[in-house]
Amino acid sequence: MLYAHPSHRRSEVNAPMYRDAKSINGVTAVDLYYEYPTYNINIDKEQQRLIDHDVIIFQFPLYWYSTPSILKEYQDLVLEYGFAYGQEGTALHGKTFLCAISAGGKADAYQTDGYNHFTIRELLQP
Ligand SMILES: Cc1cc2nc3c(=O)[nH]c(=O)nc-3n(C[C@H](O)[C@H](O)[C@H](O)COP(=O)(O)O)c2cc1C
Repeated sequence: MLYAHPSHRRSEVNAPMYRDAKSINGVTAVDLYYEYPTYNINIDKEQQRLIDHDVIIFQFPLYWYSTPSILKEYQDLVLEYGFAYGQEGTALHGKTFLCAISAGGKADAYQTDGYNHFTIRELLQP
């Protein structure tokens, strides 16, 4: 599980979720802001970590309909051509991926006819 919260100490939702996930046997819980305070992500180490796991979870608070910035940096650097995509980029084939997200907006805001016009699923489709 790759966890990203830029203000972990102020978190009310994600911090306890992260703490609980960390205590589950077989779960590797990675706090990206803690491990990489200067965003100097170790690409080889993170790619190996992905290879070593069957289920990959991004856990984060929704920030501007997207992820906190370090998780974007992680995607930009770790999900490389030839690793995650491209002809030879098959390292993640067959793995299960999901997002564990919290949002400030209520469920009825994330509807076609709601305040945000799109469902969370639609917003995260890419
Ligand atoms: C910079 C910033 C951007 C945010 N953007 C959104 C957003 O686009 N949609 C939304 O529903 N909530 C948004 N929120 C609210 C957070 O998602 C919410 O506070 C968080 O999920 C609560 O979890 P936490 O207690 O772990 O921080 C934003 C909050 C911040 C600080």
